[in-house]
Parts: sequence; structure tokens; C-alpha cells
Amino acid sequence: MLTPIFYVTANRKAGLRSELAFWEKWIRTKGSEWPEDFKRRLDPHSAAAGYHLQVLERIGADTIHILDVGAGPLTTIGKRYQEKTLIIKACDPLADEYKKILDRYSIKAPVVTEKCDGERLGEKYQSNYFDWVNAQNCVDHSSDPVKVIREMIQITKVGGFISLCHEVNEAKLEAYRGLHQWNFYESDGNFMVSGKYGYQLNLTDEFKKDLVLTMWIDQDNWIYVIGEKGEIQ
Ligand SMILES: C[S@@+](CC[C@H](N)C(=O)[O-])C[C@H]1O[C@@H](n2cnc3c(N)ncnc32)[C@H](O)[C@@H]1O
Repeated sequence: MLTPIFYVTANRKAGLRSELAFWEKWIRTKGSEWPEDFKRRLDPHSAAAGYHLQVLERIGADTIHILDVGAGPLTTIGKRYQEKTLIIKACDPLADEYKKILDRYSIKAPVVTEKCDGERLGEKYQSNYFDWVNAQNCVDHSSDPVKVIREMIQITKVGGFISLCHEVNEAKLEAYRGLHQWNFYESDGNFMVSGKYGYQLNLTDEFKKDLVLTMWIDQDNWIYVIGEKGEIQ
């Protein structure tokens, strides 16, 4: 359990307040420096894009059940993919606060973010249910990234997928400020996490019984991991 390490340095309440301030400005200004991203997230007909396509093309079903974890106020997941039906849910610990801000600006989210911590997905969502559970730029904000990934696996169907996308070594880049306490990176082909005081764990090993991983790092130094859930041993 990594939560105690998180709390040695992190003030979670202050971190969540600053996260909320960021998203309040993003909503008030219709996307801050990213107006196109704001429009795309609000568009109920936006096409799936980026690494999401690499997950979607591996799912055979015509109706695809998706959960975006740590989604913020408006999920980044596109609402259309080929002729398939995407049934998208989104969750975030700050969901209630995000809803109040969206209501204040009369903005209607195409997918309403529900309140749930990544560490507690199994309490809210059915086990072995989703075809795809995504988490981007958020597991490094959690108090226990290993538990978040474990819970993501629990609610994913056998043969379904989890995906993770984070800037490499985000906590180091952010000097361990606010919620940023965890670094994701690659070492000798393994997916790794580290925190302060020398903590590190090989996630490829940790989840080798549950997931077959595909991993790559893009030119902007973001690490992407897609894990296919195998039969539980
Ligand atoms: C930088 S935002 C990213 C939002 C969205 N995934 C995106 O890419 O635009 C980080 C999000 O992580 C959420 N977060 C913080 N702690 C979390 C946790 N324990 N589990 C899941 N999400 C968490 C924050 O509330 C915030 O909405």
C-alpha cells in the first residue's frame, strides 16, 4: 500500500484545490490555451483519436463499454468510432466540484463525470464489466497508483483492455509539488513506477499474471501502456 508514502510529502487537499483551480479556469475561458481540445471534449459527435484508436481497433464487440478514470470535468474520449456503439462512463474524485462549475457556466457535458477515486473503482463499478478502462494524466495524481491499476484490472472484462498515458517522470518534473508524487518510466523494457525516498516497483512484473503489456514512449516523452487482461490465474 503506497498511500503512506504519498502522505509523507503530499497535502492531498491542497493538491485537489489547485487541480480544481486549473479546471475552473479551463472551463471559464473555454479551454485556456487549448480551445480546440475544449470544443472536441464537448462535441457529442467527436471521433475517437490518438492512442485511443490503438485500443479500440483491438476490441471486437459492436457495443463497447468504456470507463475513463480521473477524467476531469469532460472526458477526452471521442464519442464515435467506425460503426460501433461506444457507451462511455467517466469518473474522478472531483466530479461533484466539476459539475458545479459546469452548471455555473451552463455547460452540458456529453458524458457526466461520476464521483469515484481510482483506488475505489471496485466499490462503484461491477467486476469484469468494461471492454476498456482508460486513465490518462491522473494515476500519477493518486495516492496509490498500484491500487488504481489493480482496481482498473478488476472492473475490466477478461480479453478487455486497460490503458495508461502519462508524462515520463512527471513527479520529478513537478518537483513533487501538489498531487504529483509518482513517476512512470521504462527500464529494460519494463513499465516502472517510482516515488520519493527510493521507492520503486516493476509494474510489468507486478501485473504479469493479469496483463499482457504493450508500451511505447512518444516524441514528447509521454509513456503509453496498453494492457490486455488475461484469464485470472
Ligand atoms: C491533469 S487532470 C487529467 C484529467 C484528464 N484525464 C485529462 O487527461 O484531461 C488529473 C485528474 O486526476 C484526478 N485525480 C486525482 N486523484 C485521483 C485518484 N486518486 N484517482 C483518479 N483520479 C484522480 C484529478 O481530480 C484530476 O481531475
